[in-house]
Amino acid sequence: MKFSRRDALLWLTGGCLAGSGMACLGPIAGYVWGPGRALAAGGSATGPWPVGTTDDLPVGSGRVVETPRGPAIIVRTGEDEVTALGAVCPHLGCLVRWKEATGEVICPCHAARFDTDGKVLGGPATSGLPRLEARIEDDEISCSWPSGDGAASGGS
Ligand code: FES
Repeated sequence: MKFSRRDALLWLTGGCLAGSGMACLGPIAGYVWGPGRALAAGGSATGPWPVGTTDDLPVGSGRVVETPRGPAIIVRTGEDEVTALGAVCPHLGCLVRWKEATGEVICPCHAARFDTDGKVLGGPATSGLPRLEARIEDDEISCSWPSGDGAASGGS
């Protein structure tokens, strides 16, 4: 069988398209089925859910993780200490992030600032970020949302 240059290009193009498609499917599937799997694995609607390991989150660092109840920001405040807050800014709903240089949770949209208890330090937000339960056990970090209607808010 003769394998022409055109065939090679078609195979290459097809391979690239298939690879791109597969690369997109993983995150989509995780988004769609992740929460259901967490609940099916024995978790509850409030958690706790595993959100990483201590290797993923060195002391002083923080990152946003997805939980079945929504995004949370996890901050490693000490060797055996971790704090978790809801990561949706109460001002207009942007996703907050950790600013290691100042040790604050900040909102990139309109510069609201929060401490690691979720309290407002500045900016337009008038209420704090909800506090979650967070713990480290055997180097595994987990968090859970408070049960009930509302999460405990960090206040202002
Ligand atoms: S949405 Fe966060 S400060 Fe406006």
